[in-house]
Amino acid sequence: PHLHTLLSVADFEAVAQKKFTGKTFAFYSSAATDLISHRDNLESFRNLLLRPRVLRNVKDVSISRRILGYESSAPFFVSPAAMAKLAHPDGELAIARACAEDNVIQIISTNASYPLQDIVAAGRPGQTFFLQLYVNSERRKTEQLLIKARKLGIRAIFVTVDAPIPGKREADERISAEKFVSAMSGAIAINDKKGGGLGRVMAQYIDSSLNWEDLTWIRRVSGLPIVLKGVQTAADAKLAAQHGCEGILLSNHGGRSLDTVQPAILTLMEIHKECPEILNKLEIYVDGGIRRGTDILKALALGATAVGVGRPYLYSLAYGQEGVQHLTESSEVLKDELVSTLKLSGITDANQAHPGMNTITENDYS
Ligand code: FNR
Repeated sequence: PHLHTLLSVADFEAVAQKKFTGKTFAFYSSAATDLISHRDNLESFRNLLLRPRVLRNVKDVSISRRILGYESSAPFFVSPAAMAKLAHPDGELAIARACAEDNVIQIISTNASYPLQDIVAAGRPGQTFFLQLYVNSERRKTEQLLIKARKLGIRAIFVTVDAPIPGKREADERISAEKFVSAMSGAIAINDKKGGGLGRVMAQYIDSSLNWEDLTWIRRVSGLPIVLKGVQTAADAKLAAQHGCEGILLSNHGGRSLDTVQPAILTLMEIHKECPEILNKLEIYVDGGIRRGTDILKALALGATAVGVGRPYLYSLAYGQEGVQHLTESSEVLKDELVSTLKLSGITDANQAHPGMNTITENDYS
């Protein structure tokens, strides 16, 4: 279908399912074991109801945000995802170019299909990029990557903490495929006796001994702000604040790591209940299941600075850079849905979102 006929994230997903190889779609869409957390991520937003106010002059609306101090035209960013080249030859380069056009922040995966310098060079000078980090058991390799990141002007390190080992993604396991190489981490995915689990084979280098003490080392070597990606409890959110992290991305890895865990939005509610003070100490982001403008507003209303969007951006690569831009900006997708959501909710700035805008099925935080 022509790109301009695509109106929603779901439309992009449908095209991706038809256009991508079975292996690529399985790798992108899959989640751990029974897919319970993946489904719950989507459900969690459906279970929140918005409470619009009326007669508030919503003619002009602003959705721009500062994320870790960096200007973003929207309160959402591209969550890091491995191997974008499977979707399109330009892979992460196309995302970088689209983000440059739209002033949206891209978080680059350690398992990107292109080298870090190529992705940064594809953008415009001064463009904001963050780097997602998987620590290599050969820590010297991680040090080299962090030093490179600093030299290239990367602005923050998102340390993934919810995947010391890869999750069991059976749809990915069941389809064997060609050899894939991440030019960035050097990880190679090849078929083995079990099948072709791209995620599992690529993750072999990840250091599962990583712990809280290592954050000092990551900070020292990179000299950059640290955000923990994959925090799933208020207890760990508190620890992140105590360890001086600049932010936390509440996430369950799109349901791809441990199955039957809580969706990020519930972790955010847990933080409201148990340690609301940390909302003033660090920035909190949410990802997993963000598919509509209403999902974004619900997270912002509960105090998230921004949200991450994962699979939808991979799906949008079916149309290369143009597809990525269409998903971000165009007439009916993310930015446009968010603007409409704000107006229909009676607010004119994303900063006016507040907990009272949501009704939660059991708990009301208003
Ligand atoms: C991911 N994700 C991920 N996260 C990470 O920290 N490093 C990585 O390399 C990857 N790779 C990756 C590949 C693919 C194919 C997917 C779908 C996801 C997780 C990603 O950053 C994010 O947390 C989820 O994708 C968010 O959920 P939604 O938006 O996909 O529902």
